[in-house]
Amino acid sequence: MLEDLKKFYKNKRIFITGNTGFKGSWLTMILNSFNSNLCGYSLNENFKPSMFELLNLKKKIKLIKGDVRNFQHLNKSINKFKPDIIFHLAAQSLVKKSYIDPLFTVSTNTGGSANILESCRLSKSLKSLIYITSDKCYENVEWIWGYRENDKLGGYDAYSSSKAAAENIFSAYLESFFKKKKLGAVSVRAGNVIGGGDWSENRIIPDVIKSIENKKKIIIRNPKSTRPWQHVLDPLLGYLILGMKAYNNNNFSGSYNFGPDNDAVLTVKDVVNQISKRLNIKKKNILFNNKKSKFKEANLLKLNCDKAKDRIRWCPKISSKMSIDLACDWYKSYFEKKNMTKVTELQIQKFLKKYEK
Ligand SMILES: NC(=O)c1ccc[n+]([C@@H]2O[C@H](COP(=O)([O-])OP(=O)(O)OC[C@H]3O[C@@H](n4cnc5c(N)ncnc54)[C@H](O)[C@@H]3O)[C@@H](O)[C@H]2O)c1
Repeated sequence: MLEDLKKFYKNKRIFITGNTGFKGSWLTMILNSFNSNLCGYSLNENFKPSMFELLNLKKKIKLIKGDVRNFQHLNKSINKFKPDIIFHLAAQSLVKKSYIDPLFTVSTNTGGSANILESCRLSKSLKSLIYITSDKCYENVEWIWGYRENDKLGGYDAYSSSKAAAENIFSAYLESFFKKKKLGAVSVRAGNVIGGGDWSENRIIPDVIKSIENKKKIIIRNPKSTRPWQHVLDPLLGYLILGMKAYNNNNFSGSYNFGPDNDAVLTVKDVVNQISKRLNIKKKNILFNNKKSKFKEANLLKLNCDKAKDRIRWCPKISSKMSIDLACDWYKSYFEKKNMTKVTELQIQKFLKKYEK
């Protein structure tokens, strides 16, 4: 599989929206190692430090600063670059922020995504589209089973509903336009991911890391909540496999879930304990806060990933424990002022070896 991916992605023209973000930076590193020809389209980095800056990724990708809400500029940029493949990751990606700025969330996540679809419809060069939404696009009925791709969509908060709406518009474009072309178009729905290089707010590992950096006690909310824990590299590999399989081939078009195996569902407290062991954080520096957040947060949200396992032979390769350790090791190297490009490359190469057979 790895050789097929490397051969396929070599010299392909790839347009990535949201390339300055967390997932976009890891994707840029992988595609760069495959020698793809990359163009990114994003707003400025959201958080400082950012992985994009730290790894000096502007040397690895042609960067266009732009807003996906501006159709004219976006479409002109896509037309000029003439991509073979588009990975659409640009989004306001945080649930909590969607309570503070719902309009930006909806106009970017839904309106911006519709602009991407329209540009794809008009593009003459494009052969596959990988359209990133979220596991939060499902109407969360708090059941114990994993959601399947044909379950009902919906969302309580502006983030979740903006992603559900983005999915609905995707289906309309797929049925009305893309199925008539050879263009393979997939929407991908992954859960929360972890890994080095994330400095977003209200995500558990970044929050712990920022407390260490600022020499502050660590306050952990909702210690009893369970979440599925997945390393960022696992779903990214799924997206890359789809980008290859769906190339000029609409038999793979549709929606796909990407989530961890069931053993990856741990409590927040379990995760924090593992992080504190790995990073040698003293117990007295961690405070657990059982108070309920004033924002409604989804409790259990699991995905059924049988479709990806069956159709594209994808499966998660990194266990939950390993995912947390990998993320901690990345930040440990960052604190030790190591060469983070090399550290990231090594983690990627080690991970890709799992796809050698
Ligand atoms: N990180 C996760 O745990 C997770 C989980 C599920 C889904 N997702 C989805 O994956 C995608 C990437 O997530 P991430 O964690 O890398 O997010 P991120 O917040 O780190 O990065 C978001 C990127 O989008 C860009 N962006 C935001 N608004 C924009 C706009 N109006 N125009 C152009 N660019 C804009 C930012 O500049 C940045 O490059 C998003 O669609 C997100 O919703 C992420």
